[in-house]
Amino acid sequence: MKSAIINQFGEPDVFEMADIQTPIINSDQILIKVNTVSINPIDWKQRKGNHKFILGSPFPIVLGYDACGEVVEVGDEIDKFKKGDIVFGVLDNKYGGAMAEYAVGHEKCFALKPGNISTQEAAAFPMVSLTSLQAFRDKANLKPGQTILINGASGGVGHIAMQIARIMGVKIIAVASSKSKGFVKQFNPDSFVDYNEQDVLNLDKKVDVFFDVAGNYTFPKTKHLLKTKGIYLNLNYLNSLTKMPVNKFHQLFSKGKKAKTLVMKHNNSDLGMIAQWINEGELKIKIDRTFHLDQISEAHEYAQKGHSKGKNIVVIDNPPQNKKTHGQ
Ligand SMILES: NC(=O)c1ccc[n+]([C@@H]2O[C@H](COP(=O)([O-])OP(=O)(O)OC[C@H]3O[C@@H](n4cnc5c(N)ncnc54)[C@H](OP(=O)(O)O)[C@@H]3O)[C@@H](O)[C@H]2O)c1
Repeated sequence: MKSAIINQFGEPDVFEMADIQTPIINSDQILIKVNTVSINPIDWKQRKGNHKFILGSPFPIVLGYDACGEVVEVGDEIDKFKKGDIVFGVLDNKYGGAMAEYAVGHEKCFALKPGNISTQEAAAFPMVSLTSLQAFRDKANLKPGQTILINGASGGVGHIAMQIARIMGVKIIAVASSKSKGFVKQFNPDSFVDYNEQDVLNLDKKVDVFFDVAGNYTFPKTKHLLKTKGIYLNLNYLNSLTKMPVNKFHQLFSKGKKAKTLVMKHNNSDLGMIAQWINEGELKIKIDRTFHLDQISEAHEYAQKGHSKGKNIVVIDNPPQNKKTHGQ
């Protein structure tokens, strides 16, 4: 099958187009014909080799976690999906494996694609939506009427996080650059902070949750902005682990304020909830740039600049027609 592979870690030009063997599924997995993949920062971090000490170097590596495509084969133990279904989700293999004609994942990775969006849009939702939902519900325990600051509101996670916070009835302070102001304001945050104009640390507001999507702050630096029992929530899991001893020390003198981090979990009932919000028109994705598989190096080059407005996608194949989706 056609695939973008890497045979070494490095810059975006390490990608090679190759013909490799189609993955073989286990009895608890499904095989999809990939239509579209979206790029997340984890993809370009892994391309650089940032996770090689944990995941090893099993070259050739096929990167990419977020995908939408048609189910072409199901294992004997699978009962949620059948051949011909159009699914979207986050793959659960080491290094993903989505940047190819075919990809494999367990049942927990997928849900039926919502019927009211394209396969290209669907590929952009899974990781950023699951991350935001699980961060707010499981880590921040957000309640209606509370206030969240979203630092990095214009990117993949940020623009979805604003919409999920709104669904949960939470007030939003969105932080992004001057260039992203127009983009962010379309999601109607209660207030917008331009980090080029104003130092976030000098804000005269207190928040229940400081959601540090961009990851350029720390718990000790931001705890004065937190209300009693407020939470500083960071998405850089490995970095947060190294800061845990310092954070624990600061928590001792912080009126119940806490530092937390998370790793997105594969969960198809969460993905089903996201599909429902999409079907109800509550959750919309913004695609910044669209690339084709042979433009994978350009796609990574652009995404790793870290200033995307919404998501970047890579189209592998033409969209499947007239197949079963969520809401049909
Ligand atoms: N733990 C997990 O399970 C998990 C899951 C998903 C993502 N993540 C992590 O979350 C992070 C964000 O992911 P993403 O998909 O949203 O990335 P992204 O699409 O590249 O967006 C990055 C955002 O950061 C903003 N930004 C850059 N510099 C900033 C600054 N100095 N102050 C405030 N905002 C700034 C950018 O806004 P401007 O262009 O306006 O500067 C941009 O909107 C990544 O590190 C990713 O690895 C973790």
